[in-house]
Parts: sequence; C-alpha cells; structure tokens
Amino acid sequence: MRVLIPAERIQARVRELGAEIDRDYPEGPVYLIAILKGACFFLADLARAMKRPARIDFIGISSYGKGKTSSGEVKLTKDLDASIEGADVLVVEDIVDSGVTLNYLMHVLKQRRPRSLRIATLLDKPERRLRPVDVTYVGFQIPDEFVIGYGLDFAENYRNLSDICVLEDPPTRP
Ligand code: IMP
Ligand code: MG
Repeated sequence: MRVLIPAERIQARVRELGAEIDRDYPEGPVYLIAILKGACFFLADLARAMKRPARIDFIGISSYGKGKTSSGEVKLTKDLDASIEGADVLVVEDIVDSGVTLNYLMHVLKQRRPRSLRIATLLDKPERRLRPVDVTYVGFQIPDEFVIGYGLDFAENYRNLSDICVLEDPPTRP
C-alpha cells in the first residue's frame, strides 16, 4: 500500500474544519452524528478540534450486497439514542463515494425536524457520485482509488492506520 494522505496532514485539516465549524454555528450544542464504523476516528478528532459544545451520537447503516448498493437499498442497523428535533445536526462521514448512503440518511434525518442539517466528510470521491449529496465540509477530495486507514476498511481491516493509504491491489467493486 502507498500513503495518500499522511497523518500530520489529516490532523492539520481536521483542526481547520473544527475551527470553521466553530465559526459557522450559532450558540448552543452541535449534534455530531457519526456513521458507524468508519467515521468514528474522524468524529473523535473533529469533536476535539471544536471549541463549542458538541454532543455525539452514532447511527448504523448497511447497504445491501455489492450489486445492489447503487439501487439505493439501504437500511438503518442502529438508530440514534436521542431525538434531534430542533437541534443543529452535523452528520460526520468518512467518505462520500456513490452518495447512496448519505442521500438516504439525509432523507431519514430531515423527517425528524432538526433545526439545521449538514454533512462533514473527511474524504470525497466526486467522480463516483450516483446520487446527489450536499456536503458542507470536505476534508480532502481524492481521485477514484480505494483507500484504507483512519477509519476506512477493506473487509474490516486497516481501520487503525493513522495515514490514509491506497490499496495497491484494489479490490473489485461494483
Ligand atoms: P456511498 O454510499 O457509495 O457514498 O458509500 C459510502 C461508504 O462506502 C463509505 O462510508 C465507506 O464505508 C465505503 N467506501 C467508499 N469508498 C471507500 C474506499 O475507498 N475505501 C473504504 N471504504 C469506502
Ligand atoms: Mg462508512
């Protein structure tokens, strides 16, 4: 594997995003919602890069078998613990690829009447987009390569790498 974004660059960018979020939001807590499992590392660093009060929660989503992801068949595997009605919600994701996951999730969360609803993603692969997703905070735009590390996995491995790396022998994808 080859390093695409070294840990120091990730950390510097996450600090910038935290400062940007601090400036943008009104008084009161920001509800950070991480999508399990990949976004946990980004959430932990982003929350600490912010000075304003943050609450955290987790949501689990599964997309059906490889061939079906693009058809938008997604389901919740773990729901939020608390209501988000009237809250300033920031969904934290590791990577936006086809956009199917976030397109679905935003639809679900909007129905719960948060005061505001935005997305922060560490990585964005715009070339692969199939569904529109309105992302407010992007760490890095990356080319269409399969990446691992800093929460991102290949078959559940490599999430604990501090750098974001490209798998040289890329797995087959839909
Ligand atoms: P989307 O619904 O296609 O946008 O999928 C987003 C999800 O696919 C992410 O949350 C990741 O779990 C996974 N994913 C997409 N691209 C990559 C990658 O390059 N490496 C690891 N996981 C990826
Ligand atoms: Mg994910």
